[in-house]
Amino acid sequence: MGSYENKSIVVTGGAGFIGSTLVRELVRENANVTVVDNFASGHKEFLNELQGEISVVEADILSGDFEKLLIKRDADYVFNLAALPYIPDCYSMPMDFFNVNALGAMNVLLSSKKAGVERIMQYSTSEVYGGAQRVPMDEHHPINPLSTYAVSKVAADRICFTMHYEQEIPVVILRQFNVFGPRETHPYIIPEIISQLSKSGGTLRLGNVNARRDLTFVTDAARAAMSLMLQKKAVGQVFNSGTGIDYSVRDMAEQIAEVMGIKEMKIHLDEVRLRPLDVDRLQANYFKLSQLTGWEPETSFAEGVRQTVEWFNDNGKKWPWN
Ligand SMILES: NC(=O)c1ccc[n+]([C@@H]2O[C@H](COP(=O)([O-])OP(=O)(O)OC[C@H]3O[C@@H](n4cnc5c(N)ncnc54)[C@H](O)[C@@H]3O)[C@@H](O)[C@H]2O)c1
Repeated sequence: MGSYENKSIVVTGGAGFIGSTLVRELVRENANVTVVDNFASGHKEFLNELQGEISVVEADILSGDFEKLLIKRDADYVFNLAALPYIPDCYSMPMDFFNVNALGAMNVLLSSKKAGVERIMQYSTSEVYGGAQRVPMDEHHPINPLSTYAVSKVAADRICFTMHYEQEIPVVILRQFNVFGPRETHPYIIPEIISQLSKSGGTLRLGNVNARRDLTFVTDAARAAMSLMLQKKAVGQVFNSGTGIDYSVRDMAEQIAEVMGIKEMKIHLDEVRLRPLDVDRLQANYFKLSQLTGWEPETSFAEGVRQTVEWFNDNGKKWPWN
């Protein structure tokens, strides 16, 4: 197995939530990291303490110049995280989601091939499966996307498979289940619960409290992606990443309240938060990933929540969007 020592790594979407953690972990392994981001939802400040250690290029993955950038950096590996990922946004801008998430991925692949990149990782999502028809969900679970976000990611997955065979592009697909942690960029359920509890002291207004999700702490998620990228055998294949444990939104709220020291918590139904088509349950089978790489999640949900709440408190009790 290789290492990241002195490798040239391009991380698209590296100023985002997962991307900025991935960049930190790569720097810890002495990689030469270039972040490519158009700051649609990413923030330069997330990378502040890495100034001087990494390069940050403001660019779009749809740009015709992406190939030149890869050549200039002599990129060994490309992690493609750049995307429009927040499902509620896709209802009003489905075409943008498709352009960035599917055509953007295609541009990353073709540019990487021309630039002689050794390996590319396409960041996919458990949303491609739709709700669980059986649990835990392995890579053979039926594909049933329930949002245009998920459709755009299915399209990207299919583009990767086909281009791997047709054009011999060395791409690995990582289907990540939900991620949480410091530096969230969108009002997903964990940051939403934390900020509501912080303001109200115990009252929550939530949508579907029975929905169940498998939640990986962001550092564990980054380490999973890194361990997989180093495996040549992974090329042309798809891998799930998750914890194998799912929590209902109600369970999450109870555990977060406990970490925040809140004794009494009330949940009210907010119909505005219900999605037109919602995924009921996601629970990962990540056996294929752990068998190939030895990766296992290390951070418990409670410990991940503790670190997330600590970051929130240290940053003015605000997320970047509020
Ligand atoms: N957060 C999760 O729970 C989760 C779960 C599964 C998969 N994913 C996938 O992981 C990846 C990262 O998600 P995230 O949660 O960190 O979201 P994020 O919004 O924080 O990150 C996306 C990044 O891509 C950048 N970006 C968007 N459009 C771009 C473009 N055209 N060119 C260049 N940069 C662009 C944004 O500015 C941002 O920095 C996405 O591909 C997402 O689909 C996320």
